[in-house]
Amino acid sequence: MIGKESIAKTYNNLQTGLVQSGRGKDPATGAVSFPIYQTATFEHPALGRSTGFDYTRSGNPTRQVLEDAVARLEGGAKTLACSSGMSAITILLMWFKPGDHLIFTDDLYGGTYRLARMVMEKWGLQSSFVDTTQVKTVAAAIRDNTRAVFVESVTNPVNRVADLTGIINLARERRLLTIVDNTFLTPYLCRPLELGADLVVHSATKYLGGHNDLVAGMLTAKNPQHGEELYFLHNALGIGLAPFDAWLLLRGLKTLGPRMEIHQRNALAVARWLQQHPRVKKVFYPGLAEHPGCEGLKEFSSGAGGMVSFEVYDSEAVAGIINSVKLFAFAESLGGVESLITFPAMQTHADIPEEKRNAMGINDRLLRLSVGLEDADDLIADLNQALEGVNHTAE
Ligand SMILES: Cc1ncc(COP(=O)(O)O)c(C=O)c1O
Repeated sequence: MIGKESIAKTYNNLQTGLVQSGRGKDPATGAVSFPIYQTATFEHPALGRSTGFDYTRSGNPTRQVLEDAVARLEGGAKTLACSSGMSAITILLMWFKPGDHLIFTDDLYGGTYRLARMVMEKWGLQSSFVDTTQVKTVAAAIRDNTRAVFVESVTNPVNRVADLTGIINLARERRLLTIVDNTFLTPYLCRPLELGADLVVHSATKYLGGHNDLVAGMLTAKNPQHGEELYFLHNALGIGLAPFDAWLLLRGLKTLGPRMEIHQRNALAVARWLQQHPRVKKVFYPGLAEHPGCEGLKEFSSGAGGMVSFEVYDSEAVAGIINSVKLFAFAESLGGVESLITFPAMQTHADIPEEKRNAMGINDRLLRLSVGLEDADDLIADLNQALEGVNHTAE
């Protein structure tokens, strides 16, 4: 029923592929919305025969339809839907061998930093953290035992833009793999495998799901053999996404395109408004011409996404803003329809040592906004009333 032919490409435009994700994959009933196969196990027709599915940890039709849809969008050989972004990154790191060395973006998502430094180093995986906006810093970190560069295309939370094409070219020359965490951009805006990267990972909890209602990760390999090796770990570790969550994610994917368009339109409006506000010291949004990564981003992404961070003049002001916003929910995460505000130094990046955090600009004056799909004027009015209570300006 769900065979190889189901991932044959039948469209030219990504938007069509997104909307059609899962359609026509259930010929038995013709269900337009692919069903949730909420089952742990599958009955075999006879001894030695299988429907293609045996046990949901190893494979489930709803999960597979989702995986096929994402593989097609990314231009990959195989996608694995995982129980979280972190579990996708876990199998990716466990795939390497003790003694291997990986180079990571330095202002990496705090959970990835924690996994690399506090878990995987104990298993013998060596890691370096460097500025991936510069190819030369990546080149300088390469050792004899380096196997891969793990790069966030746009970093969390200060929105630094990697020199992605430069890193991919360097990695190819030096026979290293390029792994891209593309959570902030999504395949709607940027497809790293098409640029020559080897693996792409997402916290699908974010824009791919898009509704703040599930936790999931997607890992896509360009090379079929890499895909099979990673599938082995996916099954061995039992981190496959549950059928209901796979269905929610499939549903979210269908509207990824229009959602991203509104996210970035709103984000640009919010970023421009923040920029002129006297109580705001700095705004980090790569869609602003003043952002140092704005031009570089255009080389590999058709948009700047929906994440805006800003710094106020005084850390004392932070609590007031967080406590005063009404539309922005003070919550971790990003990429959903509802706008969120996060204090990265205390939340998402708390596991990064303070000195390192400060050096990367993740200080106690920085707030991160996941700009949602509400009306931009309402979001600005909400920020305005919250900032009105702040007494700290440049003077
Ligand atoms: C860039 C990035 N990568 C990975 C993750 C981890 O994903 P999850 O929370 O789904 O495990 C996150 C979570 O915030 C993230 O922002």
